[in-house]
Amino acid sequence: MTEIEWWDYDDAEEMAAAVAGDIQFIIESAIDARGGAVIALSGGKTPVPIYAKLAAAKLDWKRVTIVPTDERVVPLGDPLSNVTMIAKAFIPKGARVMPIVPTATADYKAAGRSADALMQDLHWPLDLCLLGVGGDGHTASIFPGPDLDEALAGPRERRALGVMPEPLPPEAPVPRVTLSREGIVTARALLIAVTGAEKRTVIEAAIKQGAGSAYPIGRVLADVELPVDIHWAA
Ligand code: 6PG
Repeated sequence: MTEIEWWDYDDAEEMAAAVAGDIQFIIESAIDARGGAVIALSGGKTPVPIYAKLAAAKLDWKRVTIVPTDERVVPLGDPLSNVTMIAKAFIPKGARVMPIVPTATADYKAAGRSADALMQDLHWPLDLCLLGVGGDGHTASIFPGPDLDEALAGPRERRALGVMPEPLPPEAPVPRVTLSREGIVTARALLIAVTGAEKRTVIEAAIKQGAGSAYPIGRVLADVELPVDIHWAA
């Protein structure tokens, strides 16, 4: 049974300040303990105010490596690119922000293998994985479709893989690369940040359903060994 704690806020700004504070603490602790921090940050729109607040924190950013939890297979600089959004916030601070899809390719599986090779060079486990959740219950880019089983239960050493969502999500209808469940749940800290009543209903149902859930977030969170904090704003 996964230990899950919900943190509720009145609005997205209040949530952003709290989550940014938690991430700052995680980064500082990792730098104190190991001389550097390696963190995975979610894409999408919800975390944008969190990253704005976090980027303003006084941290030794040169010791911080950031990867996206998942990426849309699009060229760098594309409005859909998660790492481009993350880089805008943290490159000016001096952090190392790693693109995981260096060139867009029609072969999403090959993009996944290349992302996995890049990920293998990082220091594992991750100090933090910050996840978002879609209204359809996906998290990172773990979506229903032909790659779902591999994402959830592929070889343990596989950190990242290519995913073809089925159906393609309307907000970004492109193939993806994503951290595997194993890469996510072995992080030293696991945070989720979401807004809106609809996502809360989906996540609560998914948690109840557990490993048999139709929602990827339910299957990712089932039987996780570390405590999970879910930050939620109305
Ligand atoms: C992606 C994301 C994804 C995101 C959710 C929520 O590339 O789509 O990383 O997992 O966290 O889709 O996105 P929003 O915050 O935009 O609702």
